[in-house]
Amino acid sequence: MKERAARYWPLFGLRIVTPLLEIRLADDDDVFALVDEIVEGVHDPSTMPFNVGWTDIPSPRLERESLQWFWRQRAQWGPDNWTFSGAVIVDGHAVGVQDLSADNFAILRTVRTGSWLGMRHQGRGIGKEMRAAILHLAFAGLGAVEANSGAWHDNARSLNVSDALGYEINGEDVGLRRGSAERQVRLRLTRDSWQYKRRDDIRLVGLEDCLELFGAA
Ligand SMILES: CC(C)(COP(=O)(O)OP(=O)(O)OC[C@H]1O[C@@H](n2cnc3c(N)ncnc32)[C@H](O)[C@@H]1OP(=O)(O)O)[C@@H](O)C(=O)NCCC(=O)NCCS
Repeated sequence: MKERAARYWPLFGLRIVTPLLEIRLADDDDVFALVDEIVEGVHDPSTMPFNVGWTDIPSPRLERESLQWFWRQRAQWGPDNWTFSGAVIVDGHAVGVQDLSADNFAILRTVRTGSWLGMRHQGRGIGKEMRAAILHLAFAGLGAVEANSGAWHDNARSLNVSDALGYEINGEDVGLRRGSAERQVRLRLTRDSWQYKRRDDIRLVGLEDCLELFGAA
C-alpha cells in the first residue's frame, strides 16, 4: 500500500531520518495517532502556545477539525503553496507534528516552520531534533535561503529550540491570544547560520521524486 501511495504521490515516500527520529508526511494511520495525542493534551491548558488557538476547540469538533486540517494540507498541495505536515515518529509511534510551509518557493526560497509534540513526549530533546531534521530538508534538500518561525514571548521551550539552532530575533508583532494583546517574537535563520551548525547525521530518503512538488526542481 505504502509503495503504491508513493508511486502516485511521491511525498509519501519522503523520509527525514535522524539518530533519534523519523519525519514523514502524515498518512491516515499517523493522522489518527496524532489526534490521539491531541486528545491526551499538547500543552498546559492554562496557556496558549499557538498563534491560532485551535486546541481550545471543544471535543468532538477538535478531533474532527484536526483530521480535516491534515487532510486539507494534502488536498491543497501545489508547488506555489504547500504545507508539509510531517508526522514525527519515535520508536515507531507518531508523537507530534513538524510542519514546513512555503509560498512561491521556486522564487522566494523561504520556508516557515511550526510544531507540537504530545505533552508526554516533551522536554526530552525531541523538539530540537525534529526542527533540526526539517531544517535539513529545507536547506540541504530543497536549497532554501531562509527559514522563519515565531513564538509567543513566554514560550520558553519553543524559543530555546530556535535559539539552539541558530535563529536570530527578527522583530516582534502584537497578536491576539485568548482575547488579549500579547507580544510574539519573530525568528529568522539564514542559510549561512544553518550551515554553521549543519549536521552530518541526518538522511533524506526519496527526495528526488518530490522536488518538483516543492517547486524546487
Ligand atoms: C515547543 C516544543 C515542540 C519543543 O519540544 P520539546 O521536545 O519539548 O523541547 P526540547 O526538549 O527539544 O527542548 C528545547 C529547549 O528548551 C529547553 N527546555 C526544556 N524544557 C524547558 C522548560 N520547561 N522551560 C524552558 N526551556 C526548556 C531545553 O533545554 C532545550 O534548550 P537547550 O537546547 O538550550 O538545552 C514542545 O515543547 C511543544 O510541543 N510545546 C507545545 C506546543 C508548542 O509550544 N509549539 C510551538 C508553538 S510556537
